Amino acid sequence: MKFSSSFLDEIRARVPVSSVVGRAVQWDRRKSRPGKGDWWACCPFHSEKTPSFHADDRKGRYYCFSCHAKGDVFTFLVEKLGMSFPEAVEELAGQAGLPMPKPDPAMEKREKARASLADVLAMAEAFYRQQLEGPQGARARDYIAARGLSHEFVARFGLGFAPDARDALLRHLQERDVPRQMMLDAGLIGVPDDGRAAYDRFRDRLMFPIRDMRGRVIAFGGRALGEARAKYLNSPETELFHKSRVLYNLDQARKSAFERGEIIAVEGYMDVIALAQAGFEHVVAPLGTALTGEHLAMLWRTAAVPILCFDGDAAGQAAAWRALETALPHLQPGHSLRFAILPEGLDPDDLLRDRGRQAMQEVLDGADSLSRFLWRHVVETSPMATPEEKAALEKRLEELAGRIRDDKVRAHYRADLRARLRELWQPPRQGARSPRARGRKAAGAKKPRGASAQLLAASRGSAGSSYHEREILALVLDLPEILDDVAEDLARLEFSSKMLDSLRQKIIDIAAGLSELDSARLKTHLMEEGFGEVVNRLTGASHGPGRHAYKLDLDLHKARRMFSAHALELHRTAVLERELAAAQDAFEQNPTEENFARINRIRDELHAARQRQGE
Ligand code: UTP
Ligand code: MN
Repeated sequence: MKFSSSFLDEIRARVPVSSVVGRAVQWDRRKSRPGKGDWWACCPFHSEKTPSFHADDRKGRYYCFSCHAKGDVFTFLVEKLGMSFPEAVEELAGQAGLPMPKPDPAMEKREKARASLADVLAMAEAFYRQQLEGPQGARARDYIAARGLSHEFVARFGLGFAPDARDALLRHLQERDVPRQMMLDAGLIGVPDDGRAAYDRFRDRLMFPIRDMRGRVIAFGGRALGEARAKYLNSPETELFHKSRVLYNLDQARKSAFERGEIIAVEGYMDVIALAQAGFEHVVAPLGTALTGEHLAMLWRTAAVPILCFDGDAAGQAAAWRALETALPHLQPGHSLRFAILPEGLDPDDLLRDRGRQAMQEVLDGADSLSRFLWRHVVETSPMATPEEKAALEKRLEELAGRIRDDKVRAHYRADLRARLRELWQPPRQGARSPRARGRKAAGAKKPRGASAQLLAASRGSAGSSYHEREILALVLDLPEILDDVAEDLARLEFSSKMLDSLRQKIIDIAAGLSELDSARLKTHLMEEGFGEVVNRLTGASHGPGRHAYKLDLDLHKARRMFSAHALELHRTAVLERELAAAQDAFEQNPTEENFARINRIRDELHAARQRQGE
């Protein structure tokens, strides 16, 4: 509802801003002057050690001199405590001892209609839940078990089952006198144009209730149990459900997100539930759409720097870039995003199941800042061998920074990107090299500066190849059954890391000597041989209890594919790294523009290879 400005002013006049802000901050006693309504604290909107956050009871406003967060009693409840505006008004009116104004009749009628729609959805939720527990729900229960969801989390997320019948829900609601039109308005049934009978929208699907911030069901998502049709189906847009403004699980995630000062957005519902079950409760997902500006605003109301997590495939990369473009115009001082990209071929649910929660935590800890993600993406996707290409890259960066509306943030982005460009393009120093420094790259040799120094560091570390080496070993350790098919390939591979290579050899030896190979036996043997530590590191230690046979088949197939993909990349990276080393030698001998361009070209390819592995 809309509130009159005189009503809001009355609240502002009666409720001191310090009494509201004081719920979330510790006032600095020395700096504050309570008698004058003048309060100081460490800012609750960003992290700091000395107080630069000021609340002024006379003006009824607060302002942070450091991150520039500002507002009044209402904005504080909305932005810091995550309330909706009407919720904030209701709460403060209570505190001020003012009765809520009477809503106007048209508005009231609409509210009523919405409330009754919500009732219908609640009835549907109860119906689906009951079906899941009943005899019809056996297959859905098996599916839930095979995916490793516990009873507790099935209940917490209110999962249900839509039976495989044309109009089971429709008849259920009809018996309870729900008008046909309301079922339609709630998005629960479809009515064909050609006069055929109405039917249930969701059939033979596992049902996920979608809730608003207050926890009321406003829509459903349904996952097909069989192969056919769309894998996921969502409710259509309704009076209650606007998918560009809803994040799955925000109602439950909010509390833990506030407590941690962190919120994570992933791509799918199943990911949200799997993560919650693994202890990551501050996770939400959009509903089959790209993240919108409204979604970002909702995330920013819960945490200053939300982490967006994308699957490590091409679609995930594209979605990440789209999110970045959506975010750019809205960046504010202190408000940004981080980007976490999962290893190729895995979503968070797969990652947790295959490698445990520690692996997920590592992905989150390794998330890129927005500015770094932007830089990397642009540099990795732009050619830069010729002056014209360099100019085009510079222009592209300029253009991207120009989309940031906030003056301060934009200026800092420009400066940051210019500094990175300078570092990338700083011409290698010519003639500064003594004859002694040529040839061998031993200690004491003069290192080329700027871009070429970066290049050398990047290539010598061989970060690229050891990533694939680790992935390959993790796969084999986890599912040694694939060795039936890939043992020969594994024997032929060359690993650059000594440690990993001796582990590789040892696995081949052990596998040759055992007739029945399973993960536990292989690991036990390796422990005995003194490889315990590296094995634990590779397999991320904690795994859930036994896998389901259903899942195992799937994994074997997938594991074989992933093995080949990593082996191929490993081979490619190794070739490129050898070429790069040769090109660098050539450049050190003969620092010409062509030789520098050659390094650049190979490095571009290496970057592309690393991008494919979601590094
Ligand atoms: P994914 O295809 O990545 O599925 O879709 P998932 O989340 O990993 O699901 P499982 O593990 O196979 O069960 C990610 C999200 O995209 C939307 C859904 O919101 C889904 O959670 N989506 C996907 C659709 O809306 N329709 C589809 O047909 C597929
Ligand atoms: Mn999945």
